[in-house]
Amino acid sequence: MPIPRAAAPDLTLGFLAEGYDFVRERCAQYGSDAFEARLMGTKTVFCVGEDAAQMFYEPGRFTRRGALPTFALKLLQDEGSVATLDGEAHRVRKALFMSFMAPERIDPLARASADGLRERLATWHDGAALHDILREVLCRAACEWVGVPATEDELEAYTHETSAMIDEAGSFGPANWIARVRRNRAEARLRDLVAAARSGESPFFEGSPAAAVVAHRGADGAPLDEAVCAVELLNLIRPIVAVARFVTFAALALHRHPGHAAAIRAAEGGAARRFVEEVRRTTPFFPVVAGRVRTPFTWRERDFAQGEMVVLDLYGTDRDPRLYADPARFDPDRHLGRTPTPFDLVPQGGGDHFTGHRCAGEWLTIAIMQSLVEVLAHASWRVPEQDLTVDLRKMPALPKSGLVLADVAPVR
Ligand code: HEM
Repeated sequence: MPIPRAAAPDLTLGFLAEGYDFVRERCAQYGSDAFEARLMGTKTVFCVGEDAAQMFYEPGRFTRRGALPTFALKLLQDEGSVATLDGEAHRVRKALFMSFMAPERIDPLARASADGLRERLATWHDGAALHDILREVLCRAACEWVGVPATEDELEAYTHETSAMIDEAGSFGPANWIARVRRNRAEARLRDLVAAARSGESPFFEGSPAAAVVAHRGADGAPLDEAVCAVELLNLIRPIVAVARFVTFAALALHRHPGHAAAIRAAEGGAARRFVEEVRRTTPFFPVVAGRVRTPFTWRERDFAQGEMVVLDLYGTDRDPRLYADPARFDPDRHLGRTPTPFDLVPQGGGDHFTGHRCAGEWLTIAIMQSLVEVLAHASWRVPEQDLTVDLRKMPALPKSGLVLADVAPVR
């Protein structure tokens, strides 16, 4: 079936008003897994589902350059980052990121995160929001793991700066500008450390990801310039802090489905892993991913020319009823005996981690989530009366209260 075209001249306001449900619901209205419309004046094909993800993640087909609006680019990636590269330059830089993701490198971070959370649960103040505490714990663990030295004051600053970048990535206007200022501060601090490393001091410990970034040579054989090193260090620290969002949704799911906590405590084979997969599938985090055509191709009887814009609905693909029966139901057991294809569970993008733009930190995210979910399942806590509303028009979303916990004890 050819791709239907929306009647409205521009759907930007619809996207902002409908948020996470926008693409999937429009597709359902058209009875198609894709439709064409204008977004911020640009002709765009929106699509959802496993086939669409396979089309989108064909290696070399799309570039992310010119696809992210500036307000999101400036907070999530920035010029010169791995996401903005293509071809050989991307392959070489991505290999650097993936070299940090072997199990023996990931495990210490997962363990440090769990220790950090256990400590905070032991000294919990009623009224504290889990999301805030998780960000502090993860920012500390991230800086240590990446190899970035930071005083207590600097850790506090990194936590606020990275949190603002994540919270405001989907907004524009003053809140976004303030977050950009904060980003610049974090980047300036990191640039100073990179400059120190280049001038013979050794602020980064040997073997750390930070030391590897500073020593890295790109596809052209040249070292990365200081600003790009700082961008990439931030590209490691910020998304580790962002895992706090997933873990907050995980805690909410433990609260709503206490039976799963018992299964995780009993260490029933794979219970924590299945739980984490279901949290990643259902959490409204990255709504979509956008690309511009690099290599022309044909899909659904339509020719896609160089430079054309395509938006793949990640959230909608993870809730596609063709892939998941009763998709809104939270059911970790649906992952029992099921191995995801590269295109049917895409909260962090699809395709191949090494050759494409799929999230470099997906395995790290899963490992951190699993260890923190185990800590939370073994702890006892209560969720007092509060506003847990999740506004699906705010991207990224979060339970309004940030999940306040009370009567907390680290081990039950
Ligand atoms: C918090 C949960 C996370 C979510 C929801 C998430 C989601 C995503 C998404 C949707 C993309 C874009 C995929 C594309 O363009 O096709 C991406 C890219 C990326 N992510 Fe993540 N991510 C997370 C955590 C992490 C972590 C922990 C790291 C590293 C420590 C990381 C590093 C990256 C990098 C470097 C890229 C760019 C990859 C490339 O362009 O080749 N992310 N992520």
